[in-house]
Amino acid sequence: MTLSTVPPDDSRLIFRERVKDYHCHILPGIDDGAETLESALSMARLFHEAGYREIYCTSHHIRGKYEASSTDVFDARCKLQAELDRENIAIKLLVGREHYLDEFLLDHLKQPLLLEGTNLFLVEIPAFIAIELVKEILFQVACRGYVPLIAHPERCNLLELADQGGKKSKFWDSWITRNAPVDNEVNLLRYFQDIGCQFQANLGSFHGLYGRYVQKKAEAFEKAGLYTHLGTDAHNPEHLKTILKIGKRL
Ligand SMILES: [Fe+2]
Repeated sequence: MTLSTVPPDDSRLIFRERVKDYHCHILPGIDDGAETLESALSMARLFHEAGYREIYCTSHHIRGKYEASSTDVFDARCKLQAELDRENIAIKLLVGREHYLDEFLLDHLKQPLLLEGTNLFLVEIPAFIAIELVKEILFQVACRGYVPLIAHPERCNLLELADQGGKKSKFWDSWITRNAPVDNEVNLLRYFQDIGCQFQANLGSFHGLYGRYVQKKAEAFEKAGLYTHLGTDAHNPEHLKTILKIGKRL
């Protein structure tokens, strides 16, 4: 896989300055993240202990599944922020959304919920979707002046490694065969770069939280300087504990 590269120090910057989480499901009652206020507070305490000071609340937005409005997200953020302030947990909550890339996504571009204070439109690419649809929708996002921030590209089935290092296991062979052709994958990543996309890594991906293959992809992407942002994608206190524990080894 050929990618544009940046100096090693710059590519590691997102790991050194870990005070802001760009992807987190901390808002209670909005999606499959924190179920209760107490869970959200536990997550906030863990974040603070680990040195984080700003958290983007990026609840899922999926038609037919998680459909809370932007107003609901703002209200939930305000309520949780008030509780954090009351508990003296020095974390600033910022609004955002993890948009699901499907045929309904363009509806959300009329009044998009960007990552607060930025022009970034966080978007998750589903496991099974036509490459041409992905390209067309992200192009439309970019045409409206927003910057698509691709959530955890290392977990995206449409983006695979062209070189498996000559040591493929039987599992990897069959896994890759089931997915998109390599030519398309490389072209797709180049296309993302060409239209100005940015890329958010999941901290847990680097230590096998999602399996060896995702880890291998994350390492390859990071080595190529692809990533611009880092997130935990944490959904509950136990999940976050695991992510922060393994993340310390970076
Ligand atoms: Fe997420």
